[in-house]
Amino acid sequence: PIHGVIFDLDGVLTDTAEYHYLAWRKLADEEGIEFNRGANEALRGISRRASLMLIIKNKKYSESQIQAMLARKNRYYVEMIANITPKDLLPGAIALLDELRQQGIKIAIGSASKNAQMVVERLGIADQVDAIADGYSVQQPKPAPDLFLYAAEQLGVPPKQCLVIEDAAAGIEAALAAGMWAVGLGPCERVGAAHVVLPSLAGVTWAGLQAQLSKAVV
Ligand code: G6P
Ligand code: MG
Repeated sequence: PIHGVIFDLDGVLTDTAEYHYLAWRKLADEEGIEFNRGANEALRGISRRASLMLIIKNKKYSESQIQAMLARKNRYYVEMIANITPKDLLPGAIALLDELRQQGIKIAIGSASKNAQMVVERLGIADQVDAIADGYSVQQPKPAPDLFLYAAEQLGVPPKQCLVIEDAAAGIEAALAAGMWAVGLGPCERVGAAHVVLPSLAGVTWAGLQAQLSKAVV
């Protein structure tokens, strides 16, 4: 039985994945580095620093230049998310959050983002979640299990009784490494390792999800 659900934020509850992409694109353009949507797929769910490392590849930058670029990208991103409202919740998100709450299931956010708190507040769901694990919570980013284990601990639910909902390969890997159930949102090439793969949260109910998980081959 599942007693806790841990939602990734970017790309699961809201489409901030697009803003991350636009902010990185602006930085890459300014630096004369080639970067496109295809390359951006590899950045889903991974930390800000790891993302920059993948973008600059083996181009040589000093640590202070790297720090400056990380700050610049975040400035662009924070500007972009300043106008987020509850309308930016993805289809199906609020219905599932409400249903889980009614059923007494504990709910956490498990996001690598240092901006997660602000996004959750702007989306108007702060009262719907019991815990937030974000980019400040642990040292090891996804695909390490640490962030989700931290979220489970905050909820007081054993990892085996937790379900993670993720849109990133690194996130599914982290969930499985934590010994949790995993639902992947998006194409199989990206989230195919999850127990259940769905296109999005649209139309997803807790009863339906539990039925699909019980059929999943473990
Ligand atoms: C999430 C996103 C990533 C992002 C990371 C760090 O996991 O999916 O694209 O790089 O958070 O976010 P931050 O807001 O701290 O730069
Ligand atoms: Mg994500």
